[in-house]
Amino acid sequence: MKILFLNGPNLNLLGQREPGVYGTATLADIEKNVRERARELKAEVAFRQSNLEGELVGWIQEAKGKFDVIVLNAAAYTHTSIALRDAIAAVGVPTIEIHLSNVHAREEFRHKSLIAPVCCGQIAGFGPKSYVLAVEASVYVNGRKKQG
Ligand code: DQA
Repeated sequence: MKILFLNGPNLNLLGQREPGVYGTATLADIEKNVRERARELKAEVAFRQSNLEGELVGWIQEAKGKFDVIVLNAAAYTHTSIALRDAIAAVGVPTIEIHLSNVHAREEFRHKSLIAPVCCGQIAGFGPKSYVLAVEASVYVNGRKKQG
């Protein structure tokens, strides 16, 4: 099975960005952990980051027929982007929403996710471990899909 990890704006700054909130692991560290867990579970992974909403929309559109599951940390676009929401709904590839921080315990504007209604579930609040848990959730979601 193939999993597409997409990371939104400012996640390229992990490691130096608000370490009190997001920790000190870099996105490259997180990718390494994801690849290790994926290897154990015999899943293939593509791992991308963009600061541009349109690029993320393009990658979601291209995922159809190429990836079994999308794992999306849309970062700030989680709370603002109807375009990402519509892309997920249009493409129909099962998508898991993830966050490093527990968005529900933070500022009120982070409590609302525009993408949550079109995602199969959300993982938030476990720091870099949210990504590793998302590999496991992807394998589960893919198995469930096959069972019909
Ligand atoms: C985030 C949470 C978002 O609210 C924020 O805008 C981010 C990161 C997280 O992973 O905790 O950039 O998605």
